[in-house]
Amino acid sequence: MKWYFANTVQRLRFAARHPRYALKAALRELTLADERFLADATGTRPIQVRGFLQEPFELPEFLAHLHQCEPAFRQGMASADLWGKKVLVQYAAVRALQPDLVVETGVASGVSSAYILLALERNQRGTLHSVEIGDPAYLPANKEPGWIVPDWLRERWHMHIGDVAAVLPGLLRELGKVDMFIHDSLHTYEQMKFEFGLARPHLRRDGLLLADDALWNSAFGEFARAISSPASAIIRGVGILTT
Ligand SMILES: C[S@@+](CC[C@H](N)C(=O)[O-])C[C@H]1O[C@@H](n2cnc3c(N)ncnc32)[C@H](O)[C@@H]1O
Repeated sequence: MKWYFANTVQRLRFAARHPRYALKAALRELTLADERFLADATGTRPIQVRGFLQEPFELPEFLAHLHQCEPAFRQGMASADLWGKKVLVQYAAVRALQPDLVVETGVASGVSSAYILLALERNQRGTLHSVEIGDPAYLPANKEPGWIVPDWLRERWHMHIGDVAAVLPGLLRELGKVDMFIHDSLHTYEQMKFEFGLARPHLRRDGLLLADDALWNSAFGEFARAISSPASAIIRGVGILTT
C-alpha cells in the first residue's frame, strides 16, 4: 500500500500546481470518459476497461516483482513510472483489444514491455515485438534493455536491438499485419511521424496505434487527421487512435 500512498501524495501535489488540469482529469474520471473511449475503440464495455486499469495492482506476483526492482530502477534515468497511469492505459488497451501481434518502439528498462506482456499473458494469447537501440543513458548501470521484464513473462516476447530506422521496416514486412503499434522511442516530431508512417500500412483494420507523450508535439494529432482516424484521443498523455 506504500506505493498507493506515494502515488496519491504525488497526484495531490501535481493537482495543487495544475488546478485546471486536475479538475478536468477529475471530471474525466467521474464520467468514465477514458474508459468509454477505450471501450468504443476496442468493442468492450467501459466497466471492463475500468477493471483492466486496476488489474495489475491486484496481481501479487507482478506487484512483488516491481517492488523488488524498484531500488535499482530508481538509479537509472526516469524513462517511465513503475506505477504510472500512462502504462496502465497501454495495459488496458491490450487487455481490451486482445491482440495477436503487438509492436512497440522504445524499451529502456522495460516498464511498458512488462505491463504489455502481463496483459498478453492474462489474455492467454499474443506476442510482443520490441525495438530498442540500447542507449545506456536510459538504464541503470550494468542493466540490459528490458531487464525489468520478469522471466515468467518472456515467452511471448521478441526483442530487436537496433535503430528503429534500420529494424522496423524489415520487422513489419516480416510480420505482415499487426494489431497494435506503440511508439515510445524518441518523441521528436520527425521520429514520431516516421514511425507512424511505417506502421500504418501494417496495422490491421480496427487496430490501434498508441503514442506515448503524444502532447509533446503535433505529430500525433496531425497523423490522426491525415488518415481520417475513426476515433482518436490523448488519454493520460498517451495518444490512441483507431485505423
Ligand atoms: C522513453 S524511453 C522508453 C520507455 C519504455 N517504454 C518504458 O516504459 O520503460 C525511450 C527509449 O527509446 C530508445 N530509443 C530512442 N531512439 C531510438 C531509436 N531511433 N531506435 C530505437 N530505440 C530508440 C531509447 O534508447 C530509450 O530506451
